[in-house]
Amino acid sequence: MEVTIIGSGAMAHALAGGLATHHELEFVARDEAKARNLCDQFGGSFAPLDGYDISDKTILLCIKPYALKSVAAKLAGEAKTLYSILAGTPIASLCSLIKARQTVRAMPNISAAFGASATALTGDESVKVEAIALFDTIGKSLWVDSEKGLNIATAIAGSGPAYLALVAEAMMDGGVKQGLKREESMILVKALFGGFAPLLNAQHPALIKDAVMSPGGTTAAGYATLEAGKVRDSFIKAIEAAFKVAQGI
Ligand SMILES: NC(=O)c1ccc[n+]([C@@H]2O[C@H](COP(=O)([O-])OP(=O)(O)OC[C@H]3O[C@@H](n4cnc5c(N)ncnc54)[C@H](OP(=O)(O)O)[C@@H]3O)[C@@H](O)[C@H]2O)c1
Repeated sequence: MEVTIIGSGAMAHALAGGLATHHELEFVARDEAKARNLCDQFGGSFAPLDGYDISDKTILLCIKPYALKSVAAKLAGEAKTLYSILAGTPIASLCSLIKARQTVRAMPNISAAFGASATALTGDESVKVEAIALFDTIGKSLWVDSEKGLNIATAIAGSGPAYLALVAEAMMDGGVKQGLKREESMILVKALFGGFAPLLNAQHPALIKDAVMSPGGTTAAGYATLEAGKVRDSFIKAIEAAFKVAQGI
């Protein structure tokens, strides 16, 4: 498929990294140098943003939400399909500003650069199959029934890498606090996260916890400390807070 990416920031970069292996890319951005850099890295062509004709194209919108109005004003024509990754930007707002035969909201994450994004999708059902296939090329995608679902997914999958980074960094710091070298702590935590992904795919988290925690043992002591620190409650509230922002509350 031919995909036009509008924007040349962190997410445009991450998505191009995954998509380039399966699709032909075109980069449209106000910053020509940044867009040409993406062309050099991932192949594809560059076109300037001003007056860009989206007619019959598959567009992947990767700009900041606040820039939607000014970017839309620079586009001409009616796209075939508009995919937007803009957090907290409803389909109604997209449709009122950019003409497209079908509009889909996608919420990928930064792991797209490694073909390992968790991506939620919602929008025009007529392109559901195409949308899932497109975003499956950059990881695992899931079609949800509503924009509410997409906004919840934003809190989990879009923001998730930042939350897991916090856990990873805190565990590294914990190792250092007890006397392990920083590099050693880092190697162990990286291996832990790498090994945890297949484990989680195979088993429910509660069973993983039960398998690791023996009576009166080290894990039980650490786990009780996490519960006393309200870590579970904090994560649930973090998802709620991010969901509210995604809804514009
Ligand atoms: N970061 C994440 O983990 C993540 C995850 C899921 C979804 N998202 C969504 O992805 C979108 C992009 O995020 P990002 O992290 O890639 O941000 P970013 O690195 O700051 O990139 C933003 C892009 O928007 C362009 N832009 C901003 N204002 C513009 C304007 N007035 N006219 C034309 N272009 C403009 C920037 O152009 P310049 O380079 O010229 O400034 C840049 O190419 C956001 O809507 C965000 O909600 C982000």
